[in-house]
Amino acid sequence: MNQTVNSAVSLRLSVTDRCQLGCTYCVHGHEPEKLPQDRVLRFEQMMTLVRTLKECFEVEKVHVTGGEPLLRRGTENLIQMLRQESIGDIAMTTNGQLLAPVVGRLRDSGLRRINVSLDTLDGEKFARLTGGRLDATLDGIRSAIRAGMSPIKINMVVLRGVNDGEISPMARFGLENGLQVRFIEIMPIGPAAEWHRDLFMPSAEIRRELAGHFTLTDAGRAGGESAGVADIRDAAGRSGQVGFIASISEPFCGQCRRLRLTCDGRLIGCLACHDGIAIGELLRKDTAENRRFIMDAVRDALGCKSASRPFTQARPMDKIGG
Ligand code: 5AD
Repeated sequence: MNQTVNSAVSLRLSVTDRCQLGCTYCVHGHEPEKLPQDRVLRFEQMMTLVRTLKECFEVEKVHVTGGEPLLRRGTENLIQMLRQESIGDIAMTTNGQLLAPVVGRLRDSGLRRINVSLDTLDGEKFARLTGGRLDATLDGIRSAIRAGMSPIKINMVVLRGVNDGEISPMARFGLENGLQVRFIEIMPIGPAAEWHRDLFMPSAEIRRELAGHFTLTDAGRAGGESAGVADIRDAAGRSGQVGFIASISEPFCGQCRRLRLTCDGRLIGCLACHDGIAIGELLRKDTAENRRFIMDAVRDALGCKSASRPFTQARPMDKIGG
């Protein structure tokens, strides 16, 4: 097998393919086709994968994604189930639109880390890019701060000519609120495959822009993490951290330990690799035999991680979870 055998994995569970937003780089103009409810995995099926993985790997992190995970009722129950399996590091990526009213419940279920997607601080631009309300997401972020979530990370996909004027304002917003802003290179996936080249902005350029306004000191990359991290300080002496997810200009495939489970039960070892391996049926019954087949699929999925690849075969992000 051409994989780097590694005893640790990080699992991303997509709990729904639904999202109330329609970000330009994620969904095409038309309403995407959604899975019928009965094809969506139950939380118990997801936990069968978690328990099976735990037999052979250290499951160092489970990240709950969507679509928009807060559109699925009872997501906090999944968080609790993960806690019961002693998963120490549980995170969620959300667009924040529905976060404010539920963040206390999520915290009480054991969620500590939260990533909020936010590409602009301009209300009109936010509405144009996503179809949603900036106020709702900002309200969600403030509620997460009040609830004591930590760390709170902001994911900003930087698009040239669209929001590249907001790189420094977003970093300032992060410094003022104790949030780690992560600047993400657009990947040629889904609709972005068509115009990726025109709007792509490399991390090196984002760093240069920040260095013009702040003191930036490289802080390296935490093991297994996708983001390179830098310490950032403003003229007033406020300090914090920013992250750079440079999937295109500095691929981190060599360190990647991620496995993704789509909400229709496909196991994906690499975003760019393939359409995934269908394991939903195997997850229905937690038997020794099923666990063996699941582990075969896990090994196959991990076997995709050998080298960086073009994204031509990737599924759109709303079907995978970011
Ligand atoms: N390139 C980079 N990031 C993307 N995301 C969605 N689509 C893309 C893409 N084509 C990010 C979103 C969100 C996370 C779930 O994935 O901005 O933060």
